[in-house]
Amino acid sequence: MSFVERLVCSKCGTSYEPNENPVMCTKKDLGRLDVIYNYDEVSERFDRRSLGSRESRDIWRYGELLPVSSEFAVRLGEGGTPLVKARRLGAKLGMRNLHFKDDTRNPTASFKDRAMAVGSAKAVELKKRDVAIASSGNAAASLAAYSARAGMRCHAFVPSDAAAGKIAQLLLYGASITKCAQVKKGEDATVQAMLHTVERFGYYPCPSFGPFNPYQVEGPKTIVYELYEQTGWEGLDAILVPTGSGCLLTGIWKGLRDLKELDLIRAYPRIVAVQPAGNQALVRAIQKGTPLEKIVPEPYPESVAGGLLDPYPWDGDAAMEGVRSTNGAGVSVSDRDILRSVRELAAFEGIFAEPSGAAGLAGLEKLLAAGAIGREERVAVLVTGSGLKEPDRVMEMFVRRTVGGAKKGNRNGP
Ligand SMILES: Cc1ncc(COP(=O)(O)O)c(C=O)c1O
Ligand SMILES: [Zn+2]
Repeated sequence: MSFVERLVCSKCGTSYEPNENPVMCTKKDLGRLDVIYNYDEVSERFDRRSLGSRESRDIWRYGELLPVSSEFAVRLGEGGTPLVKARRLGAKLGMRNLHFKDDTRNPTASFKDRAMAVGSAKAVELKKRDVAIASSGNAAASLAAYSARAGMRCHAFVPSDAAAGKIAQLLLYGASITKCAQVKKGEDATVQAMLHTVERFGYYPCPSFGPFNPYQVEGPKTIVYELYEQTGWEGLDAILVPTGSGCLLTGIWKGLRDLKELDLIRAYPRIVAVQPAGNQALVRAIQKGTPLEKIVPEPYPESVAGGLLDPYPWDGDAAMEGVRSTNGAGVSVSDRDILRSVRELAAFEGIFAEPSGAAGLAGLEKLLAAGAIGREERVAVLVTGSGLKEPDRVMEMFVRRTVGGAKKGNRNGP
């Protein structure tokens, strides 16, 4: 059963019936088809008490607010990840209410499983055989796993320097892999290649970008429902989100709006977008108030955070709306700060994150130092991908630190 009322293009406002199962706006304007639910009907079933009595711990626990019926779900155990109270790092930063949402603990070790679980369920409902994805690696690895389990063929388009762990996952899950090098300034070669196969071979597009598939965007919003359940509905003052295309942030904003529509929360926490200094088109736009049409893609994105290198923020419109409407902020962080966050998460809290997954912590530390986030505030930092995806990066910096003689031993944390 689905409670979707309609889908509406974020660019031109064209409305689609749910049974049309639209994927992209027919006007080809790169609008995202926002999924609108019948909140009156949802509210009859979805409240704090009914949630409290549900047994399933995966994202399908929140079935009324997902755009596909759970009968099509390809379950691998997506969602239901721990909210870790940061005691040691909290003490170091002078914060008593700091939490990490550990989404490295998803089936393929990144938050993308939330998105791809929903996207793949829709593909199963529509009886698709071939699905296509453009991704820096995590979303592709995730779709490949769900495709393997559902018996679909996954066609993955990834950057030529995609992390080895992500490629290994793709290989083992049986995806067909095409590595794409950036040729033109500001271009995302993986997206161009994926769109070509969608047009030429009729593959079902399932990237983690709203304009090319409206259903998967609904998956990451389950992070918000979990955050509220896990804090006993007390909520938070700020949520820090590592950001590339803006799809995750769009999901966080949608989840908050869903809960407000259902009268389950009153105020919004501030949403903070964190991008690497070498790819910060969205953060610049947030800081300057630039509208999406005027955003210039980063010409040649560069950072240790390979998952955050989309030159263009495909979901930038909704991401900017989320940041603005919650009085949030956009912040860029250096590679050095991102790598320090990788070390701190591991050495103080036992969480092993890839650089993209740890960037939220670097953003928090920068905003604490600037006084833009108070040390007494209740804060959740999203940790979005596992360090096992690219251990070579971490090994490199560790070797440099120890063998290079800058610092010996690591017994008391970084
Ligand atoms: C580990 C990790 N964190 C964060 C992101 C950013 O998500 P989005 O592109 O939805 O902004 C990605 C995207 O690939 C990622 O792999
Ligand atoms: Zn449109």
